[in-house]
Amino acid sequence: MSYTERLPRNRAYLMCPPKHFTVEYAINPWMDTTVTVDAGLALKQWEQLRTTLTDLGHVVHVLDPEPGLPDMVYSANGAFSVDGTVYGARFLHPQRADEAVAHQAFYLSDGEWKFVAPEHVNEGEGDFAYLPGAYGGLVLAGYGFRTDPAAHAEAQEVLGRPVVSLKLVDPAFYHLDTALAALDDRHVTYYPGAFSPASQQVLAQLFPDAVIADRGDAEAFGLNLVSDGRHVILNTEAVAMGHKVREAGYLPVHVDLSELKRGGGSVKCAVAELRA
Ligand code: ARG
Repeated sequence: MSYTERLPRNRAYLMCPPKHFTVEYAINPWMDTTVTVDAGLALKQWEQLRTTLTDLGHVVHVLDPEPGLPDMVYSANGAFSVDGTVYGARFLHPQRADEAVAHQAFYLSDGEWKFVAPEHVNEGEGDFAYLPGAYGGLVLAGYGFRTDPAAHAEAQEVLGRPVVSLKLVDPAFYHLDTALAALDDRHVTYYPGAFSPASQQVLAQLFPDAVIADRGDAEAFGLNLVSDGRHVILNTEAVAMGHKVREAGYLPVHVDLSELKRGGGSVKCAVAELRA
């Protein structure tokens, strides 16, 4: 595929400003409660990410941050939508449980969405990715740390799309979106070492043309990216990953999200896609 064929598609996103962002509990290996977060800087970096997306022509909806929910900035975890149907989240850790309620209220306040509350633990786009142009519309789903595999079957029934279960094996990459990303409607990039050998085999079979990332890329949160099909927004630290996506014909756009990394997240964690 030639460079000019990497066409962007306008997107709608949901973000939540890190107004109450802190690291006061540790539920993933990146979180260190003894380090203080620069709240002002976190907010500034988040604003930069938001304007990067709007400057590219995308619509960004903003969810009101709530006190007592320090991880609410990671809006990707709040739900997973495909073609107007929203499969709600149910967080593994009680500290984040109320975030699902805020996301549900967002979707219910807009008659456009069909919202389905989940029975099983799942952390939204943290563990679900959608490839509309792959095999007629394919959902990739991670499990092993957060999302219950039972939620994969539930998502398939709710969304009517095949869901491929992928086993995550490295605690540093505890959500699918830390290890794999959609670059456009049918292409992905991933770090094989984050997956079980069998899941690596499944990914190689489904996506023989994937952009393969290494451990350094994943540790720089280079896979925690948001792409519109042409522009790939990723963390400034992910320099090598920027080169890899450029070589594959995309345009890397780097944003500094050093503060959000202290909570174990980056670009993708802070951006939920609204697929109406
Ligand atoms: N501190 C949050 C947690 O551990 C970070 C969530 C990151 N979000 C993501 N989509 N990977 O739950």
